[in-house]
Amino acid sequence: VAELNLVEDGKLHMATNASFPPYEMTTDDGGYEGIDVEIATEIAKKLGLELVVDDMEFSSVITSVQNGKSDIAMAGLTVNEERKKNINFTDTYTKGVQSIIVPEDSEIASVDDLGKAKAIGCQEGTTGYIYCSDTEENGGYGDKAIAYPDGATAVQALTTGKVDAVVIDNAPAQEFVKANKGLKILDTAYAEEEYAIGVSKKNDLLLEAVNKALNELIEDGTVQKIVDKYIQA
Ligand code: ARG
Repeated sequence: VAELNLVEDGKLHMATNASFPPYEMTTDDGGYEGIDVEIATEIAKKLGLELVVDDMEFSSVITSVQNGKSDIAMAGLTVNEERKKNINFTDTYTKGVQSIIVPEDSEIASVDDLGKAKAIGCQEGTTGYIYCSDTEENGGYGDKAIAYPDGATAVQALTTGKVDAVVIDNAPAQEFVKANKGLKILDTAYAEEEYAIGVSKKNDLLLEAVNKALNELIEDGTVQKIVDKYIQA
């Protein structure tokens, strides 16, 4: 599959940030698991390749593909116009919604109350951070948005009272609330998003191959099966 112009022969390098359960997380024995990891493994299989997870900060995932250090970016990665300037996206394979996590006794009861927060924790480089750090005129909260290296650290800041709310994708929000006592998720379809796989703009052949494999996995129900395994309706 040399004509696919891969980072390494026979391998599919996936740039991700493996602290985003249930999409990507580390296992106790130093491996990786999650929805994206399993879908990417199936895609790699279809292409006759072995998946290699390149774990990095979320804000490096797109540049890693742009710089030719990874073949694909798969990280619960939301499609948006800004990112489309830097990478190409496959078709969408699932959806997400930005959710708000607050302490159970919080006075913040809905997205309309988010302005009451003195500080809002987000993960650096994510759409949640982009929305929250935007100006007030644009519906954001400016300097109140605090960027943390990952969701777990943002949630830790919430449990220790450093921030009053955390804005993050809904499925990780569920996982973080499960793992920490005294937190709840506010039901607000804050922003609906679509997740897709990023591929270098210089590698149309790979984009096509990955997209074809992905669509086969969507059509035969594999993607849904993997999602259902990690996210209980
Ligand atoms: N969906 C959000 C975004 O694309 C957050 C993704 C964070 N992913 C991760 N693996 N940490 O900005």
